[in-house]
Amino acid sequence: MLEELSQLQQDGLRELQAMAGSAELPVWYRTYLGRKGRLTDVLRGLGKLSADERPEAGKRGNEVKQVLEEAFLRRQDEIREAELQASMHSGAVDVTLPGRPVAPGHLHLSIRTLRKIRAIFAEMGFQVYDSPEIDTDENNFELLNIPPYHPARDMWDTFWVNDQVVLRTHTSPGQIRCMREYHPQPIRVILPGKCYRYEQITPRSEHQFFQVEGLAVGHHIRLTDLIGTMSEFARKMYGAERRMRIRSSYFPFTEPSIEVDMDCILCRGAGCRVCKHTGWLEVAGAGMVHPVVLRNGGYDAEEWSGFAFGMGVERPAMLQHGIEDIRYFYNNDLRFLQQF
Ligand code: PHE
Repeated sequence: MLEELSQLQQDGLRELQAMAGSAELPVWYRTYLGRKGRLTDVLRGLGKLSADERPEAGKRGNEVKQVLEEAFLRRQDEIREAELQASMHSGAVDVTLPGRPVAPGHLHLSIRTLRKIRAIFAEMGFQVYDSPEIDTDENNFELLNIPPYHPARDMWDTFWVNDQVVLRTHTSPGQIRCMREYHPQPIRVILPGKCYRYEQITPRSEHQFFQVEGLAVGHHIRLTDLIGTMSEFARKMYGAERRMRIRSSYFPFTEPSIEVDMDCILCRGAGCRVCKHTGWLEVAGAGMVHPVVLRNGGYDAEEWSGFAFGMGVERPAMLQHGIEDIRYFYNNDLRFLQQF
C-alpha cells in the first residue's frame, strides 16, 4: 500500500503540473481527492492490512492527502493568475465598458398600501401603536371577550405556539396592550401589522396577511364618530365620490358591531365582477368597544367609550390593481413585484 500511495502522489503532482487550464481543475480534484477518487480507493484497503502495518499506512495516507491538497491550491492560484494575465493582455477585459447598473429595489406593494393608510389616519390624528405578531391567548382572545371554548373562536383559525401563545389572528390584541399602557388617557391609534391564520392557501386567502386596526377611546365617542372616520378614510383612499354603507355585524369585542362597505371603485355601484355584482366592497369590520373590553383595558366603561375597526390591506390593493391571486404577495416573484 505504501508504494501505491507514493505512486498516487507522484501521478497527482505530475498531472497537476501538466494541467493546461482551469477547466481541468475540478476534474483532477475528483479523480484524486474526490469521494470516489483514487486516494479513497487506495485507503479502502486499510482494513485488509495487518494491525502493525496499518498505522504507518494510515499516516502515509494522510500525508499524501495533505501534499496533494496543498499542491492543488497552489496550482489553482497559479493557473487562475496566468489566465487572468492572459486575458488582460489579449484585451478581453474592456475597462471602459460601463458597469452593470444595480437594480434599485422599492417597497413591497403591501407596505406601500400600508403607508398610504397610515398617512391618511395620521392626518386625522391617529398615532401608530406597534404590537407583537406573537401574542398570548389572553390578549388575542380572552381579554377581547372571547373565553376559551367560546364558539366565536371559530371565526379565527389559529396557529398555536403552545397552550397560551398564538400567532395573532388579527391586530385586535393590540387594543388591549395599548389601553393597558395608556389608561386612563384618551387614545387615538392605528395598529398596523401582520396576522396569521391557519387557513388553506388559495387565490383568495393566505395564511399571512396585513391588517390595520384602529382604536379611539375617549369621552362621548359615538357610533357616528366611527362612521365619519371610516367614510373620511374611504374618500381619501379611494376617491372623494365614495359612498358608504353600514351593515350590522357581530364581533365579541364590539357592541354594536358593524360592517363598513363602500360603493365599488370599479363600477361605482352598478355591479361588476369585482364587487360580485353587489355594487359594494367591504372596507372594515368595526364597532363600539365592548364595555368588557374597555374594563379589561383599565377604563371605567361608565365614563369612557370608544370605537375600533379592523381592515385588510392586501384585499383592497388587489381590487385597485386588478390582482387576481393573493399568493403573488408572498412568493417573491420579481415579475409581479416590479409592476408596482
Ligand atoms: N379583528 C376583527 C377581524 O379580524 C376585525 C375588527 C376589528 C372588528 C376591530 C371590529 C373591531 O375580523
